[in-house]
Amino acid sequence: MIDGKLPESITAAVAVLRHGGVIGIPTETVYGLAADVENEIALRRVFAIKGRPSDHPLIVHIASTQDLALWAQNIPDLAFELAQTFWPGPLTMLLRRGNRTSLVATGGRDTVAIRIPAHEVALNLLREFGGALAAPSANRFGRVSPTTPQHVLDDLGQDVDLILDGGECSIGVESTIVDLTNVVPQVLRPGGVSVERLESLLKIEIESANGPSRAPGMLESHYAPICEIELVESPLAARNRVAKLKAASKSALVLDYCSDLDAYAKHLYDFLRRADREGCDVVVAVMPPAIGLGHAIRDRLYKASVRI
Ligand code: TXA
Ligand code: MG
Repeated sequence: MIDGKLPESITAAVAVLRHGGVIGIPTETVYGLAADVENEIALRRVFAIKGRPSDHPLIVHIASTQDLALWAQNIPDLAFELAQTFWPGPLTMLLRRGNRTSLVATGGRDTVAIRIPAHEVALNLLREFGGALAAPSANRFGRVSPTTPQHVLDDLGQDVDLILDGGECSIGVESTIVDLTNVVPQVLRPGGVSVERLESLLKIEIESANGPSRAPGMLESHYAPICEIELVESPLAARNRVAKLKAASKSALVLDYCSDLDAYAKHLYDFLRRADREGCDVVVAVMPPAIGLGHAIRDRLYKASVRI
C-alpha cells in the first residue's frame, strides 16, 4: 500500500499497470480493482481475484470526455450533456461498445459502461497512464464494497500488486448507472447521482430503479456482510426489534443515519464490515427515505438483507 498523493506513487502504479498488473485504486464512490482495459490477461485476473463470473461486465474509467469516442460508438448527444454536468463524478453511462474495447471487459456485451471518477488520485493515475482502466469494486463477488484502503487490504491484500491509498471515499456508495442505449434512458443502478438530479437535467421522468435490478451482475443478493440484516422503517421499530433480539440472546446493532443521507452513504459499508469484525449477529437498519442518495442506500440495504 502506497500513498496515492505522491507523484512517485502514481509513476509506480502506472508501471505496474503497463506490465499487466492489477491494483487497488481510490475513487469518490468506492475503491476499485483496476487493470488496463486493453490487456486481456490482466482483465481475466480481475475476474479471478474477485471470484466474479466472466459475463458480469466491468466499468471502464477514463480521464476525459474526449476519450469517450475511443471506447464507445454511436454516442448520443445526451451523453455529452450528462458528462458536462456530472463528470468527473459518480455517474456511469451505458453506451454502444467501441471496437477497441475488449469483450472481456464488457462480459461479451456490445455495450460498455464508462465513467470519469472524481478523485484526484484516480484522475492523476488515469492521466499518467494514458489509456482506460477497467475497475469493478475491489471486494470479493457478492460481498461488501470497500471504502478505505484498509478494506481493500483486508479483502484482497494477498492478490493485488499494489494499493494506492487515497483515504476514505467521500461518497461511499457506487455510481449511478444510466443506460443510454435505448430511446428512453433507464437507471440500471441507483447511486451517487440521484435520479431526481438526472430527471431535472433531462426534463424527463426516468424509469424507476426500484424492483429487481436490470444490470447484469447486480443480483438480488449483493453487498452482503456475514451478519444478518433486518430492515425497519423507523428508529422506534429498530429499538423494539433490538430488544427482542437481545432477549433471544442475539447481539444486535442499529444502523441509522437517516438524519444525514450523505453520512449514511459514507459510513454504510464500513458499518457493515465493523459489525462482522465484532461478531454481531444482526444489524437492524433503519431505511432512509426514498429521496436523493436514499434511493441508493435503500437499494444496497435491501440487497444486503437478502440471502439466497
Ligand atoms: O462507483 C462505481 O461504479 C465503482 C467504482 C470503482 O467506479 N465500480 C463499480 O463496479 O461499482 P462494479 O463492477 O462493482 O459494478 C458495476 C456494475 C456491474 O455489476 C454491472 O451490473 C454494470 O456495472 N455494468 C457494467 N458494464 C455493463 C454493461 N455493459 N451492461 C450492463 N451493465 C453493466
Ligand atoms: Mg461491486
